[in-house]
Order: sequence, then structure tokens, then C-alpha cells
Amino acid sequence: MKILFFIIVVLATTTTVNFGKSTPHFLSDDLINFINSKNTTWKAGRNFNINTSDFLTKRISNILPRKEIKHTLPTKIHSVDLEAIPEFFDAREAWPECASVIGDIKDQGACVAGWAFAAVGTIGDRICIHSNATIQMNLSAIDLMTCSNECNYGCTGGLLVEGWYYWSTVGIVTGGKYGTNDGCKPYSIEPCDHYDSETCGIGYAPDCVKVCDEGSSLEYESDLKTGAPYYVVQSEVQMQTEIMTNGPIASSFKVYEDFFLYESGVYQQVTGRYFRREAAKLIGWGVENGVPYWLAVNSWNENWGENGYFRILRGSNECEIETEPLAGIPKF
Ligand SMILES: *[C@@H]1O[C@H](CO)[C@@H](O)[C@H](O)[C@H]1NC(C)=O
Ligand SMILES: *[C@@H]1O[C@H](CO)[C@@H](O)[C@H](O)[C@H]1NC(C)=O
Ligand SMILES: *[C@@H]1O[C@H](CO)[C@@H](O)[C@H](O)[C@H]1NC(C)=O
Ligand SMILES: *[C@@H]1O[C@H](CO)[C@@H](O)[C@H](O)[C@H]1NC(C)=O
Repeated sequence: MKILFFIIVVLATTTTVNFGKSTPHFLSDDLINFINSKNTTWKAGRNFNINTSDFLTKRISNILPRKEIKHTLPTKIHSVDLEAIPEFFDAREAWPECASVIGDIKDQGACVAGWAFAAVGTIGDRICIHSNATIQMNLSAIDLMTCSNECNYGCTGGLLVEGWYYWSTVGIVTGGKYGTNDGCKPYSIEPCDHYDSETCGIGYAPDCVKVCDEGSSLEYESDLKTGAPYYVVQSEVQMQTEIMTNGPIASSFKVYEDFFLYESGVYQQVTGRYFRREAAKLIGWGVENGVPYWLAVNSWNENWGENGYFRILRGSNECEIETEPLAGIPKF
């Protein structure tokens, strides 16, 4: 499988709206007002202090040259029963004992770790779902980001597919939120309050250490969780069938400048330059005012979007969210 990063970056810089010479700053009130003046399916608002634009452009959105992934990525093909696919689905309601796991909103801080949170979040949800809620744990994003380093670069970015490959071949230890003693390797990068530019400094990932944090009674090797198989599900109905059958899936998508301003509704790109790919957990779908959407969990804390969630246009591969959704089955 080839990841055509450079081609994607070049093609994606074409914007859908031409502001002429006076392009507003991507976090400005002018851009918020512009989006809200359009008759679109979502509302823009202020999620980020305008002074966090450096943090967003340099940190949350870094794109490094990537190695080509060499792992084969199997495609799962479900036999689809269209009649069985409901109009609305929410994994929290389908598996109520796992609702708090599925709906937990993370904060990646000033670190390009969305891909890692999407992977460990989806895997954690599936551990709960496939164990009939008898096993509940948080998996360590920092372990995945720092130790799966074939194509992943600490706080400067990584590939979702590499996360699944690493999980299925090596395994990932437990680890909860920053500042907790939850698991073997809790997240070590501070949360970022988007409204306060002072707290959004630059996050640095530590080196890979295959030892649990001081104070943890767990042993690294025996805490590793793995699974198999992992696979891609392509097309809207395959994704729906996979979510209904096995739980949330992880998908990467293209982030344009206007996505930072998302406040509520069903997102679709209105304006803005392409930034980079981000990844999120897809936990369900629905229809609002006739507009079909995916229900997604982001890792930009609860102060972003719909309390940390967002909804994005479904069925037309908006921002490539339906291009390479990934999933896998945990082993116990
Ligand atoms: C806005 O969009 C809705 C739904 O597509 C449509 O019914 C309505 O006429 C539009 N309004 C304007 C002012 O374009
Ligand atoms: C942004 O930074 C400038 C210069 O330090 C400061 O004057 C301004 O108040 C800040 N704006 C916000 C919204 O914090
Ligand atoms: C979960 O429940 C199903 C249905 O009762 C059962 O077949 C399966 O073995 C259970 N799985 C675990 C891991 O307990
Ligand atoms: C996972 O993390 C969340 C958020 O910090 C916490 O509420 C929950 O208790 C953790 N789960 C486990 C099993 O420790």
C-alpha cells in the first residue's frame, strides 16, 4: 500500500473559497463569521485562542516525510444486510456497559498523537466489547507513539496503520491520562487548554522505554496487549457493518483550516488550506436534517467541537474519512 503524502499535500492546497488578497487568519472571527454566513451543515466557533496558531501549525499539524509502509493490509469484506443497518447507531448505546470507555474524551496536548489515540482508543473499546465488559482498561498512547518507531516519530506524527501493525505484532501496554497512576505508562504530555495559549507549549515524547513507570506495580512484558487480525473496511456500508458487529473503528482524514473552528453540526469542508491528516474514532452514525453523518470521537479534549465529539458528512468520502478505516480483534 502506498501513502501518497506528497501528492495529497500538493493537490489539497486548492481551497474551495477564494478570499482574494485578504484571506482571513484561520482562527479569526472573520473566518468564523464567514463560515456561519454560509448555509452549511455546521456552525463555527472559537475553540482555540488566536495565539495558539503557532502551536497548531507547528505542532498539531507537522508533516514529515514518511517511509512507505511495507505491511500488507488485508481488507475485510462483510456480507452486508442493508435492512439490518439502522438509521441511527451509537456504540455507547449498543454496548452500554462499555459506554464510559467508548465515550471517554482524551487530550493529546501539544503533540501530533491523534493517530495513536484513535488506535488505542478503538482497541480499548473493542477489549471492553469483546470481553462482554469483563475487561476494561486504557491503553497507552505514549507506548505506541514512542516504541512503534518504524514509521512513527514521537510527537511529530505517525501512521495509523503502523499502530495496528505494532499492536498485532508486538503489543501495547496499559496507560491512562496524564498525571494519573492508571496502568503501566500513562500519557506523559500535559493537556492543552486551547483557550489559554500559555498552556499549549511544545510537547516532547520521551524515548521508548520498555519498562512501566515508577510507581506502577505492573511488569511491562506481561502487560502487553495484542490482537489479530487487523484490517481495513472500505465503503460506508462495510464500515457500518463493522461498527455494529465489532465496535468502533479508527479512521484518518484530511484536516483543513476550518476544522479547527468546528463547533457543532455535520462538518464538511467549507474553506481553508489543507493542514495534515488527523485520525479519530468512529463510534456511530445518523442523519440530521436529511444530512447523513458519522459520529466521531476526537482527542482534542472536551472543549473542542461537540464536547470533544464531532459529526462529519457520511457517504461521500468527506476529507477521505472513508478511504482507510482500520479495525481489529483483540486477543485475551
Ligand atoms: C439553506 O439550506 C437548506 C437545506 O439545504 C435549504 O432548504 C434552504 O433553502 C437554504 N437557504 C438558503 C438561504 O440558501
Ligand atoms: C495574543 O497575544 C498578544 C501579544 O502578546 C496579546 O496582546 C493578546 O491579548 C493575545 N490575545 C489573546 C486572545 O490572548
Ligand atoms: C461474551 O458473551 C458471548 C455470548 O454470551 C460468549 O459467546 C463469549 O464467549 C463471551 N466472551 C467472553 C470473552 O467472555
Ligand atoms: C480510563 O481512563 C478514564 C479517564 O481517566 C478513567 O475514568 C477510567 O477509570 C480509566 N479506566 C480504567 C479501567 O482504569
